[in-house]
Amino acid sequence: MRVNRRGVAMLATLVSVLACAPADEPPPATHPASASAGAGEPGPASAGAGEPGIGDPDFPEDGNGGYDVSHYDLAIDYSPTTKRLDGVTTVKATATHDLSSFNLDLTGLNVRTITVDDAQATFGRKGSELTVRPAEPIGKNDRFTATITYSGVPKPAKDSANLGTYGFIPTSDGAFVASEPNGSKTWFPNNDHPADKATFDFTVTVPAGVTALANGEQIGQPTTAGGKTTFRWRERHPMASYLATATMGKFELRQGSTSAGIPNLAATDPKFKGSLDSLYTTSAEVTDYWSTVFGPYPFSSTGGVVDDYSAGYALENQTKPLYGGFHPDEAIIAHELAHQWFGNSLTISRWKDLWLNEGFATYAEWLWSEHKGKKSAEALFNENHRRSADDAIWKYPPGRARPGDLFNQSVYTRGGMTLHALRKSIGDATFFTLLKAWTAEHRYGYVTTEGFVALAERLSGKDLGPLFDAWLFQPRRPA
Ligand code: TRP
Ligand code: ZN
Repeated sequence: MRVNRRGVAMLATLVSVLACAPADEPPPATHPASASAGAGEPGPASAGAGEPGIGDPDFPEDGNGGYDVSHYDLAIDYSPTTKRLDGVTTVKATATHDLSSFNLDLTGLNVRTITVDDAQATFGRKGSELTVRPAEPIGKNDRFTATITYSGVPKPAKDSANLGTYGFIPTSDGAFVASEPNGSKTWFPNNDHPADKATFDFTVTVPAGVTALANGEQIGQPTTAGGKTTFRWRERHPMASYLATATMGKFELRQGSTSAGIPNLAATDPKFKGSLDSLYTTSAEVTDYWSTVFGPYPFSSTGGVVDDYSAGYALENQTKPLYGGFHPDEAIIAHELAHQWFGNSLTISRWKDLWLNEGFATYAEWLWSEHKGKKSAEALFNENHRRSADDAIWKYPPGRARPGDLFNQSVYTRGGMTLHALRKSIGDATFFTLLKAWTAEHRYGYVTTEGFVALAERLSGKDLGPLFDAWLFQPRRPA
């Protein structure tokens, strides 16, 4: 289903019905109605060529048009000593229009061969665009399988504003893999934009003694032969490419399940051994508590990984948040696990709506503090509201995250404050009903700011236009 932006409102209800499925029956991973690159707009440059971007005006080259991925099968063999990766990526997709060629995103690395439905394809590369020309054109609505064999030394991506290095980052004993917003192209060819989620299988081969931790659950026991161990993982629920990980290294593990019965896996680099038990226990407690506040946990397992790489940040990798080089406290665990609902199950289809991830996860930190009898959300809101009038967060409207400065503090803090202002306006009962309705209606799907505002107005019966406008879109401190 591909419509232009004007069709989004009309289709929102239909999409939300389709997106609603129980955790053990994942729906097919399809594009959001709003992710259209081409429908209703001028056609592709040459008839039959897939578009080189998915249609996010802020990131014109990220993702691709002309097809919809349903599944990735990643096989990678990585050597921490040579830092060389040998990979085979199998992409299962459906053409959304006739295709004489289509693009994938991949940065660096050498592509050896590509087949489409078992026939040799030709390909070309330009920057991060990999253009694939199948032997036979693919018809609209046809399903096809592309297999890309590649290798090389992955180079991480750099963000000048807030993040530093991201993507596939080599460490002394393996790799730290955290790809938001568009770093998955540094380690496998894919449709590198959250507007095309898919399920994933991982087969990761590393030197014996090294552990590979990918998303979802382990399939069978690791097998060792010839000094190498192969780990298999499967994420059965739709996942944005930026949440995919295959973090490798020496790890201590603790496994079990939460009180509510969700499988829980904590892993820490030996240097952070002291964090293993608290990571395990807090992740379990937070997952169960958020399930009572936000609605049922969307995935089949929870947990976290602490690696010895000083990212200074954590990333909410699906089912396995990754903490970079520090002891994670309760607040950051509460933040990353809140993203399992806000960001991972409910996914933005345009990066400008990032406050729907970061504002919600920040507000979750405040809710956790309140739950624990520490500072209330109200107190935390007030502390921030008292920031001086020339504080940078008042100039940066969080409802419109900027491509060069996506992870600005305003998107987090003023985004979180927006939710508290909303809570005060509509009252606790409606606010907490709204959070659950939001996650239920868009479970495993795609979300927009307009959709959230519309639901808040529907459930409260109030005109919330002025509130959201002041908090999300004005370059000044709201009253
Ligand atoms: N989403 C992360 C958070 O706030 C921040 C983040 C974005 C990040 N991209 C990253 C962290 C890449 C590590 C690496 O929780
Ligand atoms: Zn976050």
